[in-house]
Amino acid sequence: MAYPYTHEKEVRLLSRGWGDPAARTLAGARAMGGYEGLAKALELGREKVIEEVKASGLRGRGGAGFPTGMKWSFMPKEKRGPHYLCCNADESEPGTFKDRELLRWTPHQLIEGCLIAAYAIQAEHAYLYCRGEFFEANQVLARAVAEAYEAGLAGEKILGSGITIDLTVHQGAGAYICGEETALMNSLEGRRGLPRVKPPFPAAAGLFNRPTTINNVETLCAVPHIIKNGGAWYRQWGSEKSPGTKLFCVSGHVVRPGNYELPLGFPLQELIYDVCGGFREGRRLKAVIPGGSSVPIMSEAECLDCSLDYEGVAAKGSMLGCASVIVMDDSTNIVKQVRRMVDFYAHESCGQCTPCREGTTWLSRILVRIETGRGTEEDLQTLLDLGKQMTGTTICVLSDSAAAPVASSIQKFRDDYLALIRQGEAVGAA
Ligand SMILES: Cc1cc2nc3c(=O)[nH]c(=O)nc-3n(C[C@H](O)[C@H](O)[C@H](O)COP(=O)(O)O)c2cc1C
Ligand code: SF4
Repeated sequence: MAYPYTHEKEVRLLSRGWGDPAARTLAGARAMGGYEGLAKALELGREKVIEEVKASGLRGRGGAGFPTGMKWSFMPKEKRGPHYLCCNADESEPGTFKDRELLRWTPHQLIEGCLIAAYAIQAEHAYLYCRGEFFEANQVLARAVAEAYEAGLAGEKILGSGITIDLTVHQGAGAYICGEETALMNSLEGRRGLPRVKPPFPAAAGLFNRPTTINNVETLCAVPHIIKNGGAWYRQWGSEKSPGTKLFCVSGHVVRPGNYELPLGFPLQELIYDVCGGFREGRRLKAVIPGGSSVPIMSEAECLDCSLDYEGVAAKGSMLGCASVIVMDDSTNIVKQVRRMVDFYAHESCGQCTPCREGTTWLSRILVRIETGRGTEEDLQTLLDLGKQMTGTTICVLSDSAAAPVASSIQKFRDDYLALIRQGEAVGAA
């Protein structure tokens, strides 16, 4: 199959069907075994579904890597009113483009995952909060939801059982912060997408103040496969603490950028040089950001023996996040790249917390000063101090996310900063 790029080392579990228009339809999804997991879940019963997901070791793919089965088990067992499931399809982290593909190519895989998750947590309504800019994905998803209703897979008495689960596709209105789970719930309630102070956590008081679970698209897409084949089966890939397959979004200076589904623990070097074809002639690796723009940057030396699982990347002082691997070759001006990322966070800060609202703006101003040859060495210390004040002091971690690449780039690519400060000379042009 010719999905932009594929590789023989991939394990195409979630991405099977990408590039094939038939996979978007209910008939096509069923031909690939779709909705068999849902039927099995209803046979197993709620408790066993949660146990199976726990046994698989599946960890949330939205960035934090929190164990999914454990998250589901936090929902109250006794029901005193509605429970809700929210599918987080607001994907807008720079460098991340995996959920969009799951939405546009295999919407029924996601719908099945939502139905199983909603059943497990006793939710009668699942909201799919989809990034508004994903015009095509929103249309494909809405069509697939209508097909699911027509076939008796969603709505009242799903698959002839006594269970009712409604599905609503909600189009986001274009703010990165609406991907943060509590801001997402505010936005769904028709309010401004401002993150809420935690606790209370969503399992206690979430959407409409009711017990709620929020899961990422990729997390939910893995669920039907786990229920159909068993938690132990899923563990054939990955490591003890990071089992399963993962979609890696590779962008930047590699020859074949794109989405690749690989077992967790896949070596970073192999991803860059084998799967993605390495660099343009005459160029070599300079830096990698392994988990979207919100995690510490890694130097070439740190990339040498790095395995791409939650622990492997943490051992190198960074985070796997949502596995958006941004690769930079030696033509890169690190200061410029970091400044661009900081500008993104400054633009997307919701403004509730002073360290974030003011800090992101000041980080950007100082970085621009350095980038344009007007900086001083004291500026580096100011950036580090500012970053410290922005970390762990705010309602959500957007603030920490903005500070992380700045601090790590000063630590690891100090010479790039100093070259601009001392001579105003450009380090790389990209
Ligand atoms: C600023 C910010 C933006 C986020 N954006 C997303 C997003 O677009 N998609 C997503 O799934 N999670 C996003 N998250 C993480 C969610 O808050 C939440 O942890 C996740 O959806 C939980 O799903 P999981 O347990 O399946 O990973 C974001 C978090 C923060 C702080
Ligand atoms: S850290 Fe930033 S984005 Fe998050 S709540 Fe505070 S101001 Fe808003």
